[in-house]
Amino acid sequence: MRARGLWGAVVVVLAAVRVEVRARGLEHSAALDAGGRYVLKWGFNGTSITFEIEAETRGYVGFGLSPNGAMASADLVIGGVADGVPYLQDYFADSNRAVHKDPVQNYRLLYGRENHTHTVLGFSRDLETCDPNDRAITGSTMRVIWALHREDVGPSGTQYHGANRGRKSLRFLNPGTSTNIPPGTSIYDMRNVNVPVPDKDTTYWCQMFKMPEVQKKHHIIR
Ligand SMILES: *[C@@H]1O[C@H](CO)[C@@H](O)[C@H](O)[C@H]1NC(C)=O
Ligand SMILES: *[C@@H]1O[C@H](CO)[C@@H](O)[C@H](O)[C@H]1NC(C)=O
Repeated sequence: MRARGLWGAVVVVLAAVRVEVRARGLEHSAALDAGGRYVLKWGFNGTSITFEIEAETRGYVGFGLSPNGAMASADLVIGGVADGVPYLQDYFADSNRAVHKDPVQNYRLLYGRENHTHTVLGFSRDLETCDPNDRAITGSTMRVIWALHREDVGPSGTQYHGANRGRKSLRFLNPGTSTNIPPGTSIYDMRNVNVPVPDKDTTYWCQMFKMPEVQKKHHIIR
C-alpha cells in the first residue's frame, strides 16, 4: 500500500512538469471575440507554430486565416471533442466560400478536451506548408476568422449555419509593438492629447503634426 502511494506521488509530479512545459510554449494570447468566449493562445519558433483554442462551446470550433477577413479563399481548420475523442481537420474555402476538406492535412492535433462549458484544442503546423490551400504564416498582420457552433461536426460535414463567428487581425510572429525595429531607427510618436471621445459610433478626427526636421530622405516603416 505504501509503495503504491509513493508511485502515485511520482506520477503526479511528472504530470505537473508536462503541463508547465506546455504552458510555457504558448506565451501569446488574444480573445478573438468581444466577450472572451473564444481565446487563442500561441507560441512559435523558426519553423512551426502551436495554437491552443479555448472556446465556450461543446460543439466544434473553427479557426481560419483569410486574405481579407472574409470566408472566401480562407485556410480553415475545424475541430472539437465528440464522445470524448478529439478531432481536427484541415479545410479550405474556395473563392465562392464553399468549404472543402484539404487533401493535404497540415494541421496536427496535439490534444483536445471539453468539460460542461468549454472545448480546448491544441494543434500545430509549419509556418510555411507549401500547400496552395494553406496560407503561410508570416511576420505581417494576418486576418484571423473564427467560428464556434453548438454541435460537433456530423457525418454530413460542418453546419456553418447558426455558428457564432467573427474576425480579428493578429500579428502572430510579431505580437509585441517594439520588436523588429531595425537599429538606428528614429522613433517619433504622434499623439492626440486630451481629446474627448464623442459618444457616437464613428468619429473621424483630423489632426496636423509637425514632423521633426531631417536633412535627407527617410523611409517611414510604421
Ligand atoms: C520548432 O517546434 C517544432 C514543434 O514543437 C519542433 O518539432 C521543431 O523541432 C522546432 N524547431 C526548432 C528549429 O526549434
Ligand atoms: C471548463 O474548462 C474551461 C477551459 O479550460 C475552464 O476555464 C473552466 O473553468 C472549466 N469549468 C469547470 C467547471 O471546470
